[in-house]
Amino acid sequence: MAFDFLQVPEQEAVWVAGAALRHQIEALLQALAVPAEHAQIVAEILTYASLHGVDTHGAGNILGYCGAIEQGVYTVPQRLEIVSESATTALLDAGNGLGFVSAHRAMELSIEKARAYGVGMVSVRNGHHIGMAGFYPMMAVAQDMLGVAVTNATPSMRPLHGTLPRLGTNPIAFGAPAGQERPFLLDMATTTVASGKISLARRLGVPIPAGWAVGVDGELITEPPAQRTDQWMQTPLGNTHEGGGHKGYGLAVMVDILCGVLSGGGFSAQMQPGQNMTWTMAVDIARFRPLDEFKAMMDEMIRTLHATPTAPGEQPVLVAGDPEFDAAAIRQERGIPFQRAQYEAIVAGAQRLGVEIFI
Ligand SMILES: NC(=O)c1ccc[n+]([C@@H]2O[C@H](COP(=O)([O-])OP(=O)(O)OC[C@H]3O[C@@H](n4cnc5c(N)ncnc54)[C@H](O)[C@@H]3O)[C@@H](O)[C@H]2O)c1
Repeated sequence: MAFDFLQVPEQEAVWVAGAALRHQIEALLQALAVPAEHAQIVAEILTYASLHGVDTHGAGNILGYCGAIEQGVYTVPQRLEIVSESATTALLDAGNGLGFVSAHRAMELSIEKARAYGVGMVSVRNGHHIGMAGFYPMMAVAQDMLGVAVTNATPSMRPLHGTLPRLGTNPIAFGAPAGQERPFLLDMATTTVASGKISLARRLGVPIPAGWAVGVDGELITEPPAQRTDQWMQTPLGNTHEGGGHKGYGLAVMVDILCGVLSGGGFSAQMQPGQNMTWTMAVDIARFRPLDEFKAMMDEMIRTLHATPTAPGEQPVLVAGDPEFDAAAIRQERGIPFQRAQYEAIVAGAQRLGVEIFI
């Protein structure tokens, strides 16, 4: 869930039901020659992100993807091709198409291999934006497996102490099932925040906290910049050396190796605008120990963490995934809040493409 200051103000919000949103996204994409089966995958993932409060990577971005298709940045329909394969690994060419579709296939393949051999890993090249990275590990979690998805992006982050952006926001997502408790889902950019949070702050007209971004001389920026340029950079998670910025920087490079170097698709600083490479992994828990024992221990761990006393005036202790699952419980009932201008833009986009309005 985004920080409170990044919530759409109630008086500006238009509430849309998840099911209507899915239909709208499918219709928009199909109007642009995306096959129904692919449009359904994109709609499912974008709606999942919106329902889980990840507004920076949700349905609000649909017009951007439509624009990329119309401008020929994405090849539609795309052809996914397995370039090389072993029992436990595959290299997938995404056919320059929708990143959601290739990342979804990569996780499906990872799960199939994990079911047969205990573990499956797939690297994707020639791909694009995959949205909320956390969606894909949850596909494995639904099969009682551990899931991992990482993806690289064109540069916005400076290496610690650097004066140029060299790395993307390169997120890491890891999911594990529990028994009675909700799954653990860590889904995080390796920058201090996802770049979408800076764009969202700009759209909402609020400043960003010191430490999210710096100028070329390392000065802290609190006015969210209008667009990406070489004059400002996002900080690696932790920002300063004292704050652990070297570790955020190192994790971003790790993601670049798994996605870009392993696939041959290119590391962040080599990629063309809009490109993203991806790597997914699934692990069959039952190959290690009985599933119910694993889940019981997960429950115990999560309950122990939740039961940690909090310092005076501080929030209760959460585990990763809690904010998103809490948001989903509310939004399933109430709908997804859109800024009015964003909602109207989607309606106008649908009208321009001659598509039925569902939202
Ligand atoms: N596709 C891409 O290129 C790309 C790039 C960057 C980020 N993203 C996506 O952006 C989204 C947002 O990323 P972010 O780094 O800004 O996320 P975030 O800072 O909002 O959350 C990161 C993680 O921290 C957990 N968390 C939040 N509050 C917590 C608390 N109090 N205690 C314990 N855990 C807590 C969340 O559940 C989440 O797993 C993610 O879905 C990510 O996949 C995508």
